[in-house]
Amino acid sequence: MIEVEDLTVRFGGVTSLNRMSVGFESGTCGLIGPNGAGKTTFFNVLSGFVRPAGGSIRAFGDDLLSIVHYRRARWGLRRTFQTEQAIEELSVYENVALVHEHAGQSGRSRRADVLDAISFVGLNIDPAAKVGTLGAGQRRLVEVARAVVGRPRLVLLDEPAAGLPDAETSGLAEVIRQIPARTGALTVLVDHDMSLVSACCETTAVLDFGVLIASGPTAQVLRDERVMRAYLGTAEVA
Ligand SMILES: Nc1ncnc2c1ncn2[C@@H]1O[C@H](COP(=O)(O)OP(=O)(O)OP(=O)(O)O)[C@@H](O)[C@H]1O
Ligand SMILES: [Mg+2]
Repeated sequence: MIEVEDLTVRFGGVTSLNRMSVGFESGTCGLIGPNGAGKTTFFNVLSGFVRPAGGSIRAFGDDLLSIVHYRRARWGLRRTFQTEQAIEELSVYENVALVHEHAGQSGRSRRADVLDAISFVGLNIDPAAKVGTLGAGQRRLVEVARAVVGRPRLVLLDEPAAGLPDAETSGLAEVIRQIPARTGALTVLVDHDMSLVSACCETTAVLDFGVLIASGPTAQVLRDERVMRAYLGTAEVA
């Protein structure tokens, strides 16, 4: 369970998150909002890349902001990025193993844990294959394998389906849906694909210009008038 209270982030004159308060309970939770709404900024605060100007985050009872950023992987935080992080020259196995090592997981369980993560995301390829030789959909699955390896507690997925064809997106949805049950981790999914969010997330929170404008059961949130207005960009008119 993640409890966010009054979280504020400023970059110069821009307020990217404005007193955001929200809870993420369990399972896979959606976080949506138009471009520039503050979704990635929120992930950057959780992972320690950005320091908030104010507010607090309790994650499974821990004060997350007091944990130095390089210890958060050990704590159990994993994330994917909007830009690919896997190293093309390294194999699938090596890419996933790097995260396992960085997260302080035991070397003894490494091989089994890494192969387990690779098989969980449904990558039916030789783990020794170089990431640079894979197609876009397979590389995306490598990113997800990196985010679920070795006892994660909180998995943050930043637009994992961006640019994927529909068939690969539905395969990815199946994997994302299974992350909480398989790993025990709370999963937060950011994506612009509402069918993916609906398929994966029982609850969804919505940011618009750094302000939380709705949160609750996904179907209800997607019907919310404020949410529809935010996406249509007609908030001023209404
Ligand atoms: N490091 C930074 N320096 C300055 N401004 C930033 C920085 N990071 C984010 N911002 C600004 O904060 C706002 C929120 O950006 P953010 O990347 O969090 O949006 P987003 O919701 O992830 O959008 P998208 O859907 O396009 O990925 C934007 O106005 C952005 O320009
Ligand atoms: Mg973003």
